[in-house]
Amino acid sequence: MSCFPCSGSSGKAGEDAAALSPSPRPSAAKPAPDRSNSRSSSSVRRGGSIPHGPAKIFTFRELAIATKNFRKDCLLGEGGFGRVYKGHMENGQQVIAVKQLDRNGFQGNREFLVEVLMLSLLHHPNLVRLIGYCADGDQRLLVYEYMLLGSLENHLHDRPPDREPLDWNARMRIAVGAAKGLEYLHDKANPPVIYRDFKPSNILLSEDYYPKLSDFGLAKLGPVGENTHVSTRVMGTYGYCAPEYAMTGQLTVKSDVYSFGVVFLELVTGRRAIDHTKPDGESNLVAWVRSTALSYLPSVLV
Ligand SMILES: Nc1ncnc2c1ncn2[C@@H]1O[C@H](COP(=O)(O)OP(=O)(O)O)[C@@H](O)[C@H]1O
Ligand SMILES: [Mg+2]
Repeated sequence: MSCFPCSGSSGKAGEDAAALSPSPRPSAAKPAPDRSNSRSSSSVRRGGSIPHGPAKIFTFRELAIATKNFRKDCLLGEGGFGRVYKGHMENGQQVIAVKQLDRNGFQGNREFLVEVLMLSLLHHPNLVRLIGYCADGDQRLLVYEYMLLGSLENHLHDRPPDREPLDWNARMRIAVGAAKGLEYLHDKANPPVIYRDFKPSNILLSEDYYPKLSDFGLAKLGPVGENTHVSTRVMGTYGYCAPEYAMTGQLTVKSDVYSFGVVFLELVTGRRAIDHTKPDGESNLVAWVRSTALSYLPSVLV
């Protein structure tokens, strides 16, 4: 399922992220300690991450070497904005994931800029780490920490027959970790950040199913001061986008909470948010749960 733009216009590329302060809000609780800083870079860590430093600038040649010239067998997956390859840094020790954005002009460049700026300023154990980027000529590449177990989508919906389904504990651990990532964006980042693309393919998993949010290209700064929302062009993924945001373009942190609710339903039911192979009345998970749940409620409550 890919991201969709709707009507309306949006602000200048990167202006949002550029206004973001890396410091937590004074009134908010202290951000959770970043466990990724607690051990040396060569050791294996829980969450599979490496220490934060400034995003490194790579040359295209370095990333071509790291991914064996973007060889097919290094391909980890493909999303709406490009392909992701597994790579090894020159020292051979550090495994990376390299996303090569489609060279489709302004929109891709905008996502690239927002993602670099957001992930350079936001740091939390439940957000994927951006190691660096490359902007050689018209090439746009992002270099992330490699997430051993791929995406939640790979485990929940695109599971190969030889892979065991996620057990209940793993499902709940993923929900809690992903919620902590959102909580950091909403309640601890200053100003708050609205993620706008919460869905299983953007929840990446390291060892022990430790979840991290990835893909910040659609992220937007939330309302500040007296404002209750920000008005934006509607972006997101069909099935996960909050109906009131899709209808009005008025974005609040609650839009992410709606998407979280959809993913939570996917985790507990094992069904996709939208599944056209299901019979009428069951293809939309939220509508199906609503009608099923309502049929169990005593009629006096309905
Ligand atoms: N850092 C990473 N480590 C391991 N696999 C990744 C990483 N980033 C992305 N992937 C894989 O590549 C796929 C495509 O990623 P992406 O371009 O973000 O598209 P989408 O989110 O639309 O699936 C993901 O679903 C995931 O399986
Ligand atoms: Mg993604």
